[in-house]
Formats: sequence, structure tokens, C-alpha cells
Amino acid sequence: MPDSYLKVTIFRDERTLARSLAERLASDLALQPRQVLGLATGRTPVRLYHELGTLHAHGRADFSQVVTFNLDEFWGLPPDDPGSYRSFMDVHLFNRVGITPEQVNFLRGDADDADAECERYDRAIASADGIDLQLLGIGTNGHIGFNEPSRELAARTHRVRLKESTRRSNAALFGGDVSRVPTEALSMGMGSILRARRIVLIATGKSKARCVERLLTGPITTKLPASFLQLHSAVEVMLDTAAGEFVHS
Ligand code: PGA
Repeated sequence: MPDSYLKVTIFRDERTLARSLAERLASDLALQPRQVLGLATGRTPVRLYHELGTLHAHGRADFSQVVTFNLDEFWGLPPDDPGSYRSFMDVHLFNRVGITPEQVNFLRGDADDADAECERYDRAIASADGIDLQLLGIGTNGHIGFNEPSRELAARTHRVRLKESTRRSNAALFGGDVSRVPTEALSMGMGSILRARRIVLIATGKSKARCVERLLTGPITTKLPASFLQLHSAVEVMLDTAAGEFVHS
């Protein structure tokens, strides 16, 4: 594989990756407790969040001064809907590490006006002086946040129509019933993501191997939104051996 602009680390397995990143985030927080964290949902970060919960329970991860922003939310769902990304974050991270609602910024899927809600969110990110560390997963189709492959990509936070494949991969949040997965979402745009000072993308499992390969060395294209990360100077890509199958050092 040709060289990549992105820094890549491959871990033995998902658990080692999650532990190592959790330890690192906890040490960063010890040095700099006031951080603006950009967070992601999906299956990939769950292990990381649980490791952070364990560190917090042992008094080794202090989240008391962080401010959080999440990448996206389903359009049409109130925050307390069990299928919402807000509920997901409460269950998997916020409640485990003592992050209070006052520290959390989230797109509201039940806002009256989607455009106004997106503008509010971008303004809130700017008022927090931007995101220090943005955590990302990657869809098998190369999406980041809900920026789906398309002819053009939005720079700012916006309303999106979800691809069927994306709805299917979210069905677990709705009892496995894909018909209950909302058809639209609000998502941070490519510019909102790329303005973060540092970005860590994590990918695990064989199903991510091809899109990771294209992310690292393919052309920059709206057909693979994650490829734009090659333009950012502080991105780390953390993989398990399965997702890193096509990465040769
Ligand atoms: P996953 O989703 O972690 O559930 O694979 C990643 C993503 O779609 O960003």
C-alpha cells in the first residue's frame, strides 16, 4: 500500500484498541481537564466508552470539566426516545462517567425548524471555541457522521436523508425493525468536522477493511466522505487487525 498522510496504528484486537485509547484520553484529561469533545455513536465506540466508564469508576478519568458535542441525531425523535442517539450516549457514556446534561450539546431531533436547529448547533460549537478532539467511526460506505457518499457534501450542520444501508445498520436501536428507523437525520457537516483541532477515527472488523484502505490512500472524493480527512493535519486512524487487513507498513 502506498504511504498515507494519515497516522495509522493497528492494535491486536478491538479490546486492546479501546483500552489504549481510553487510557490516552484519561491522561489527556488529567493534563487538560477542560476539553471540548466531539463524540460519535455506533457500535464501534461502545467498547471505548465502557473502558472510560471503568477508568472513571476507579477515579482515573475526570470528565467534570468537559463539554461535549455529538455528531448527529435522528430527525423526528425527542432526546428521551430510547432509539435516539442522545439516549445511546446517556446509556453508554454520559451516565457512566458523570457527564451532566449541562455539559452536553446535542442536535434536537424534535426541534420545530431543522435549519434553525442546525445553525444553532454550529453557533454553539463556535461559542465553545471549537472542538478539541473529534472522535469518529466510519460507515462501510465511507460516511462520517451522517455525511453520506454523494455528488456534493455539506460543509455545515444540515438535515440529511439516510441511505437504506445506514438505516439497516441502525435497526438494532429500534428492536431490529428497520421500518422504525427514521428516514432523516441532522448531522454535523464536513466543515464542522474538519475544523476540529484533532481527530481520532476508529474502525474495527473486516467489514471496514476496504473503506479504510480507500480512506488512507485513495483519492479525495465525495463518494467516500472520510477521504477528506487526508486534508487534515492532525488525524489518527486506530484500527484492529481485521480493519487494517489491507494496510501494510
Ligand atoms: P458502526 O458505525 O460503529 O456501527 O460501524 C460507524 C458509522 O456509521 O459511523
